[in-house]
Amino acid sequence: MTLTVEENERLSRVGPGTPTGELLRRYWHPICAADELDRSIFRTKELKVLGEELVIYRDRSGKLGLIDKYCVHRRASMAYAVVEKDGIRCQYHGWKYDSSGKCVDQPFEEMTHPEVGFKDRCPINAYPVQERAGLIFAYMGPKPAPLLPNWGPLVWDNAVRDIAITHLPCNWLQAQENSVDSTHTEHLHDYAARYFRQIMNGEEPDFERARTHTKIGFEPYKYGIIKRRTTNDRGEDHPRWTRGHSILFPNILWHNATMQFRVPADDTNTMHFSLYIWRAAPGHEAPKQDVVPSRTVQLMDEMGQFAGLNYLFNQDYMCWATQGPIADREIEKLGESDRGIIMFRKMLSDQLDIMATGDEPTINVFRSAEENSGLEWPAIPHESGEYVGANFGRGDPKYRPSESGYSRDAEKIEAVMRTWQEFEVPAGAYMGE
Ligand code: FES
Ligand SMILES: [Fe+2]
Repeated sequence: MTLTVEENERLSRVGPGTPTGELLRRYWHPICAADELDRSIFRTKELKVLGEELVIYRDRSGKLGLIDKYCVHRRASMAYAVVEKDGIRCQYHGWKYDSSGKCVDQPFEEMTHPEVGFKDRCPINAYPVQERAGLIFAYMGPKPAPLLPNWGPLVWDNAVRDIAITHLPCNWLQAQENSVDSTHTEHLHDYAARYFRQIMNGEEPDFERARTHTKIGFEPYKYGIIKRRTTNDRGEDHPRWTRGHSILFPNILWHNATMQFRVPADDTNTMHFSLYIWRAAPGHEAPKQDVVPSRTVQLMDEMGQFAGLNYLFNQDYMCWATQGPIADREIEKLGESDRGIIMFRKMLSDQLDIMATGDEPTINVFRSAEENSGLEWPAIPHESGEYVGANFGRGDPKYRPSESGYSRDAEKIEAVMRTWQEFEVPAGAYMGE
């Protein structure tokens, strides 16, 4: 089931008015870490989201605003505007906007023609935003906005979090397809990873291959697709088969206590947010975090080659980016290992068909408190994930990042991991696997 050029465009392009661009606008997406914004002395950050140039800011009363990058007047960048107590004032001629985008002041126009109400005709485009789990989420679709989903890791308390952000020079769909591509793990993350590690250490590669997949399974479910696998060393009684992992439609991977959000900046660039969560063992208290630290992952080295290939996620990033700005899906050769990818493309295409009839997507657009509660994995909603993290805290509770860089809160992470050391996890409980 190779896609045609037209089908590929339909599934991948994200600008305003494109089918997938309109579909993605029906969802809340993280657009930056609160920590990134708050580290800017300008209290602003320039962003590109779904092909639109925007500025996020936090006014001096703490309120967030997301507006077009260019001032409505004569198009100076609002990234250098004066951020006041209750809005943002363009640095060039002083037009001021509130967080809803309403123009509330135009100094010289008000002085000369206060009676004409010119400012009422000069709103700046603005989008709603919400802060959650250290991330700032935006909604860029038609109103009323749905609810920001209460996925477990976004709402768990008594936990320590960390955020890594990677700017990928490729289309978002390559990243998301990877999450239903089970067999890559035995090659990219076992065999090739071992090879990368050895050559990076100046060792002779031994070409040893440890793990082979014996069976893969994919199942569409209410929130996306569950993927399952057995390997030569893990059979059908292993959680990787019995419970599996979940991707959330349309652009999230939820793996144990890590969520990965693949947010298109534009057609050929993706902002990748990894949100890591370490929960404290029941009865223990996690250290407090005033801010959730964030970092930007360095993708390339000074020679222009992919950096950090001894890290799991960097290996993925390299593969997605090297597939090209938008992968040429019309010349792929899909095999048995690609069943999950075919299923995801069909799911996306079916949702685009629903949108084409004027309806909203039927997956993960929540409009009632009931739909938006108990969003836990695995097997939503019957387990709470409260023991996820236990297996990381046993033995050697050492923080090991999955992608290059290091958390500023590594000590707090290790303190949380240590809370599991003496804790008795009930038999059969899901610890994350
Ligand atoms: S360009 Fe912004 S006020 Fe003139
Ligand atoms: Fe991977």
